[in-house]
Amino acid sequence: MKVGVPKEIMPGETRVAATPETTRKLRAKGLAVAVENRAGEGAHFTDDAYRMAGAEIVDHVSALSADVVFKVHKPTFDEIRHMKSGSVSVSMLDMCHDDGTFDALADQGVNSFALEMIPRIARAQAMDTLSSQAGIAGYRAVLEAARLYGRFLPMMMTSAGSAKPARVIVIGAGVAGLQAIATARRLGAQIWAYDVRPEVKEQVQSLGAKFIEFELGESGTGQGGYAKQLSPEARKKEEQMLTDELKKADVIISTALIPCMPAPVLITEEAVRGMHEGAVIVDMAAATGGNCPLTVPDQVVIKHGVIICGITNFPALMPSDASNFFARNLYNFLMLMIEDKDGELRFRDFFADEITNMTLITHQAKVRFETTKMAKKKGAG
Ligand SMILES: NC(=O)c1ccc[n+]([C@@H]2O[C@H](COP(=O)([O-])OP(=O)(O)OC[C@H]3O[C@@H](n4cnc5c(N)ncnc54)[C@H](O)[C@@H]3O)[C@@H](O)[C@H]2O)c1
Repeated sequence: MKVGVPKEIMPGETRVAATPETTRKLRAKGLAVAVENRAGEGAHFTDDAYRMAGAEIVDHVSALSADVVFKVHKPTFDEIRHMKSGSVSVSMLDMCHDDGTFDALADQGVNSFALEMIPRIARAQAMDTLSSQAGIAGYRAVLEAARLYGRFLPMMMTSAGSAKPARVIVIGAGVAGLQAIATARRLGAQIWAYDVRPEVKEQVQSLGAKFIEFELGESGTGQGGYAKQLSPEARKKEEQMLTDELKKADVIISTALIPCMPAPVLITEEAVRGMHEGAVIVDMAAATGGNCPLTVPDQVVIKHGVIICGITNFPALMPSDASNFFARNLYNFLMLMIEDKDGELRFRDFFADEITNMTLITHQAKVRFETTKMAKKKGAG
């Protein structure tokens, strides 16, 4: 059985779905590994490093025609054409946007797995790419804020005078938000955090931040631990109360997402107008419309004197460790899927395990409509 690792072709993507470390582990399990030439370049893994780990270096088409194809992003239509019938594709599949990819994968006979559908259960944590990448994003977002903010985050007492610690507000205390709190705390900022799911209060406080609480008259907790959309009345209340809090912030890191929906607008133009000159907003929801209407995806803009950062792919700015984590997640996922039967590697029954059953999107030339419907309802990536 051979694992193929094509170079990512999405603009700005630096990650790679297998590293020399996971190549070595795959080889030790008896798998062959075919890595496209320069696939690891963006993440600082050379072809030689893959060769030394036991991979063969191949061209794009050969990497795509393996038995198992590991990718970060969903394969393009052109890539799908080169995949072989009966092969397995493992990648993010952008489940909220059906642009014909599912049908193309099914028509090609590819059995495809969507990593964003991995259930958020303890047993699946080692395979959970959403979490591993969100943690990296939360860390990097704070560093980006610190870079853009023209002042200190920690309190500084020097012979030239002192500086007050920055007041950082983190909106959304999911995986990215909690990592942002931890990182801002390490940098010495004073942190407040808000989430529409009240149950995260304890986690926020355990990281040394203060929890901002509003009486909205309803809970924002939806299915599977994700947030749900609030009623228009509760949204209005939330917006008003949050606007007053946000005006006091030096730095805002906003991470609020609702699966398969546009990001909720939480940082109003009025809030931005109320912030001081040189304050910073890092809007981590920029890819899905932004938590601030003034955010421009993939740009840093200054509005009403406030610096607003709309980076949409933070993990790509940490390519080596983002690839290390992503690749380990994929290795663990593949191990769940295969077994050694009398010295021969085979796929297990994909329906027998909750994790592979929930992530399998196309199988034997069919799109699993129930799975994709569920993805859109529950929300994934
Ligand atoms: N293996 C596991 O057990 C595991 C692993 C990772 C995450 N989880 C859980 O999965 C869930 C989703 O986490 P995620 O990081 O993917 O979340 P996410 O990226 O979908 O959303 C980020 C945060 O934004 C918040 N949010 C949404 N609308 C908001 C609003 N209007 N105002 C304020 N905040 C708002 C959400 O509540 C969430 O905390 C969480 O419950 C998390 O604890 C479990």
